[in-house]
Amino acid sequence: MTVTRPQPRPGVLHIAPYIPGKSTAPGVDKVHKLSSNETPLGASPNAVAAYRAAGDHLQDYPDGSASELREAIGEAFGLDPDRIVCGAGSDDLLNLLARAYLADGDEAIHTTHGFLVYPIATLGTGAKPIAAPETNFTADVDAILKCATPKTRIVFLANPNNPTGTYVPFDEVKRLQRALPGNVLLVLDAAYAEYVRRNDYESGIELVATTDNVVMTRTFSKIYGLASLRLGWMYGPAPVVDAINRIRGPFNVNGPAIAAGTAAIRDSAHIERAREHNTKWLAWLTEEIGKLGLDVTPSATNFVLIHFSDEKTAEAANAFLMKRGLVLRHVGAYKLPHALRMSVGTEEANRLVVKALEEFLGQ
Ligand SMILES: Cc1ncc(COP(=O)(O)O)c(C=O)c1O
Repeated sequence: MTVTRPQPRPGVLHIAPYIPGKSTAPGVDKVHKLSSNETPLGASPNAVAAYRAAGDHLQDYPDGSASELREAIGEAFGLDPDRIVCGAGSDDLLNLLARAYLADGDEAIHTTHGFLVYPIATLGTGAKPIAAPETNFTADVDAILKCATPKTRIVFLANPNNPTGTYVPFDEVKRLQRALPGNVLLVLDAAYAEYVRRNDYESGIELVATTDNVVMTRTFSKIYGLASLRLGWMYGPAPVVDAINRIRGPFNVNGPAIAAGTAAIRDSAHIERAREHNTKWLAWLTEEIGKLGLDVTPSATNFVLIHFSDEKTAEAANAFLMKRGLVLRHVGAYKLPHALRMSVGTEEANRLVVKALEEFLGQ
C-alpha cells in the first residue's frame, strides 16, 4: 500500500497526550488552583525583580550555556557546574535523556503510578515503556529489577513520586543502582526533593557523584515558584552531560528564566519559608482529611493523594469541589481512578477544601 501522508515514527501515535491540571472552574470567580503542585507562596521577590530586569534585554539571545545559573546551582548544592545542564523545565531534560539513550526496540522502565512524562518521552523515541508494579503506592525496587531485560536502557524513578507523594529510601535506591547493569541509566527525578523531611531520603547527588550511570533531575517549578518560566536542571556523569549538551537546543533556557532562577536559588530565606509552610499544612491536611474517614497516602511532598470509594466517588468529589472554586486533580490517567491529588495551598484554600470535603461526605 502506498503511504500518501507523512507518518510520525512508530510509537508517537500511541502517546496519550499529557493533560495538565485545570486552572479554572466554570462559573466561579475565586479559584484556588490546587491541581499542579505549584507553591502557594509564589516566587521570591528577588526572582521577580530579576525577571523584570531581564525584560530590558529581550532582543538578545540568552547565554546558551546558562553559566551564571549553573554556577549558582553549583554553589547552592556544592556541585561542579560543569556537571550540570539546565533545561526548559525538567520535562525538557527527561525528554532529552530519552532521546539520547533510547532507540527503536529498547525498553525504559517506570512505575505503575509514576510521572506520566516517562512513558510519553519513551514512546517518542520508538522505545517501549514498561510499567513496574508498585507496593502501597510506592516504587518497589524488586519489582523494577524483575522488569529489567537485556533491552532495558533507562529506569525512570520519581523520588518522591507524583502523584502518590511516596518516596524510596536512599538505601533502596542504592540497592537498585547496584543491581542494574552498568549500561542502564538510572534517572532519579527529584522534582520534590526540597520538600522532603525524612532522615532516610537523599535526592541522588551522592549516587551521581559516585557512580557512572545515575542522573538526577530537578525543577524550579515547585518550591522556587517559577513553573511559568519553564526551568529545570540535571546533574550527571561527565559523559551523560556531554551527550545532552550535544542534542539540546543551543538556547534551550530563556534569558528571563536564567535571571530569575539565579536569584531564586540564592534566596534561601524564601525557600525556607515555603518549606515551613508546606511542612505545617501537609501534616494538617493529612490529619484533617484522614479524620473525615478518607484515606490519604502519607506524602513527603507538597501534595496529598486522597482516596475515595465506590459510593462517594472521586469524580463526584471533584465536581463538588470545583463548584466551590477548589480545583484539584483527578488522577485517572495515572491509574488511580478513585483518587484526587491536592497541592498544599494557602491556609485559606486548605481550610476550604477540608470544609467542602466534610460537606460532600455528609450529603
Ligand atoms: C515528578 C515530576 N517530575 C518532573 C516534573 C516536571 O517539572 P517541570 O515543570 O520542571 O518540567 C513534574 C511536574 O509536575 C513532576 O511532578
